Amino acid sequence: MARKPIALAVQGGAGPISLESYKRNRPAVGEILARVAAMLMDGASAMQVVEEAVRLFEKHPSFNAGTGSSLRYDGSVQLDASIMDGATMMGAGVGAVTGVLYPVTLARYVLERTPHVLMVGEWATRFARECGMELVADEELIVEERRRLWERKLAARETPDDQVLSSGGTVGAVALDAEGKLAAATSTGGMVLSLPGRVGDSAILGAGTYADAHSAASCTGVGESIMRVLMAKVCADAVINGMSPQEAAELAVRIQGEKTPGTSGAIVVDISGALGLAYNSDNMYRGYFTPERGVVVPE
Ligand code: GLY
Repeated sequence: MARKPIALAVQGGAGPISLESYKRNRPAVGEILARVAAMLMDGASAMQVVEEAVRLFEKHPSFNAGTGSSLRYDGSVQLDASIMDGATMMGAGVGAVTGVLYPVTLARYVLERTPHVLMVGEWATRFARECGMELVADEELIVEERRRLWERKLAARETPDDQVLSSGGTVGAVALDAEGKLAAATSTGGMVLSLPGRVGDSAILGAGTYADAHSAASCTGVGESIMRVLMAKVCADAVINGMSPQEAAELAVRIQGEKTPGTSGAIVVDISGALGLAYNSDNMYRGYFTPERGVVVPE
């Protein structure tokens, strides 16, 4: 009997990423992908795989999620994340949450331990404490490179509005497991200089993250633009309407670029194990895995 398809894709953010930065962080994308690909091969569920992929990005200081997140206008760190299980259509997000090392896991706790789909701000942080999660000071999430970027932008008197035309980073993963189940997860530190309390697409099902019985999608880029076009849901609907994941990702990115400012990217996997990766920014940290092709991280 033919082996059931499995597949996995990750993104580490789209935006004005220089070739130098891309080359510097490319090995980290490959390492994260290899670790979660091994889990998928060993029979882990799509939900376990996407959560672990996002946790590994959140832990890595080079990516804008968890440790290494962007700073808000006031110098604080507030995090957004979400996760969705395509088989059950159950998903949840957290927005503008502080002090959490792994926001994607907090999103999973919201999904599993509450009837809610979105929790935000200090009450989400309190919920994290009740769930037994370790809470840390902002200082532990801030890395020097992000602090310098924040200082430069503040000194240039950029306003939160200016940020809509530049792009934040995000991390995310989509997976199809051996039981034919799909899942997606996304996490971000948001846009540098955004106002405290701002929540972006990465917290919102249908915008940054979506999964159903046909496909799963995770998006990256300017949250305000992604939310206005509900990019991840555009990907899902395109697959239902007969497009391949690659066509769906390209369509969603094109719609975002035509209708809203800024740039974006999307990764998509469908129930056949086909993958799509597209972006309209300078670059996007990205990679994918299938048993046939192995771990692929474009040069
Ligand atoms: N896509 C990440 C954000 O805008 O917050």
